[in-house]
Amino acid sequence: TAVLVLNGPNLGRLGRRQPEIYGHTTHDELAAACVRWGAELGLAVEVRQTNHEGELLDWLNAAADDAVPVVLNAAAWTHYSLALYDACAQLEAPLVEVHISEPKQRPETFRHTSYVEPHAATTISGQGVDGYRQALEFIAASLAH
Ligand code: DQA
Repeated sequence: TAVLVLNGPNLGRLGRRQPEIYGHTTHDELAAACVRWGAELGLAVEVRQTNHEGELLDWLNAAADDAVPVVLNAAAWTHYSLALYDACAQLEAPLVEVHISEPKQRPETFRHTSYVEPHAATTISGQGVDGYRQALEFIAASLAH
């Protein structure tokens, strides 16, 4: 089964971006790990990252058309994008929300709201990049039922 892992703004600098919060794994390393974890679970994983909200919306609309399961770290858009809320609402295959940090425990109160969460089958936060592995496991398990 094909699964999309979609990462939003500023996650392309993973490994160099505030490593005390987001760790030292680069986006390329994360992408390779997701492909490997997916293969172990029988999933064909494709990982994409964008700093352009419309591009993410296009990917989510295509995922809705094709009923593709999605692992989504929408980064800062999570906290304020109504277009993202509407795009997630259209998904019928499992949607798993991932955050590397634990936004609800962070001091900026704007991080305490998620426009993805209402549409997600589950949210995995604060697990570092292992959260993506857990998200893929969740999708593999939900597809097995
Ligand atoms: C993040 C948390 C968001 O609050 C933040 O804007 C990000 C990354 C995370 O993975 O922990 O860019 O989604």
